Amino acid sequence: MPIEERLISPIGKKGEDALDLSLRPKFLAEYIGQEKVKQNLEITIAAAKKRTEPIEHILLYGAPGLGKTTLAHVIANETGANIRVTSGPVIEKTGDLAAILTNLEEGDILFIDEIHRLSKTVEEILYPAMEDYALDIVMGKGPSARTLRLDLPKFTIIGATTLASLLSAPLRDRFGITHHLNFYEPDDIEQIISRSARILNIEINDEAKKEIANRSRRTPRIANRLLKRVRDYCEVKGDGRITLEHCLEAMKMLEVDSLGLDFIDRRILETIIHKFKGGPVGLNTLAAATGEEADTIENMYEPYLMQLGFLDRSPRGRIVTALGYEHLGLKPAGQDKLV
Ligand code: ADE
Repeated sequence: MPIEERLISPIGKKGEDALDLSLRPKFLAEYIGQEKVKQNLEITIAAAKKRTEPIEHILLYGAPGLGKTTLAHVIANETGANIRVTSGPVIEKTGDLAAILTNLEEGDILFIDEIHRLSKTVEEILYPAMEDYALDIVMGKGPSARTLRLDLPKFTIIGATTLASLLSAPLRDRFGITHHLNFYEPDDIEQIISRSARILNIEINDEAKKEIANRSRRTPRIANRLLKRVRDYCEVKGDGRITLEHCLEAMKMLEVDSLGLDFIDRRILETIIHKFKGGPVGLNTLAAATGEEADTIENMYEPYLMQLGFLDRSPRGRIVTALGYEHLGLKPAGQDKLV
């Protein structure tokens, strides 16, 4: 199953944007959580405004669904800048990037999502653009090749990536400011659910709110998606108000368990337990045994399973921890059901 089609995938789905836009905070004051990042950005924005200069290039890194794109739009709104949005995989050729850069105006923000996926040649165009606001165009080949330098307006790049280490060192060095987005505190997720419910006109009680928050993998995008799906259920089975009882029934139907694990998370844990005696098992072997891509397991499933303490990585492979066994109702040694 494509990762973005999972209910609890942190990746945005096609068609989800319109509704998400109404839920996304537009200014820092509305943005819940990530307090340290917000405080730092407030200073950066205020200082740039005072000097009437574009802000420095900013690198945002963190797991998918934590609000990197939202934050880029918030920065644009706060500074009154225009924002252009693109992504690493979309910029295939140097000419694609040159076209984007030459169309920018003074003070614009260029948001590059998945910036680690830029090719080396495209990345090299970015270096002088970021450092000197210049575009170097090479004309001709061999000994007669010449470089023509075009001036660019002063602009700001906001780059987003899941792991800072995925970026080459020269690219990373060209960002004056780097911020890490963490998984959200459970209280923050509850507040985000309250805010979204208010915007979407959904009545929800505190117990149900807590329940959805607990199953949201500390990720706002998942919290908002679960809220909408539970609302659908309550509209069909009840009067539209979200109660704990209906919330639990809906989650059961959606196969999202008490900690937000879905059937694929559970399959990964169960495969390690039943086919590999709890591990250690190598990533590629695990991928073959579960039918998921190694990359997907490593980047999408493992971070949350490890954060919960259900899975460990060792030099010899992945291991299910005692906590992981317990969550599935199994015993580590004999793999018998707990009574
Ligand atoms: N919706 C999604 N992310 C949010 C956040 N961090 N604050 C408020 N609303 C949100």
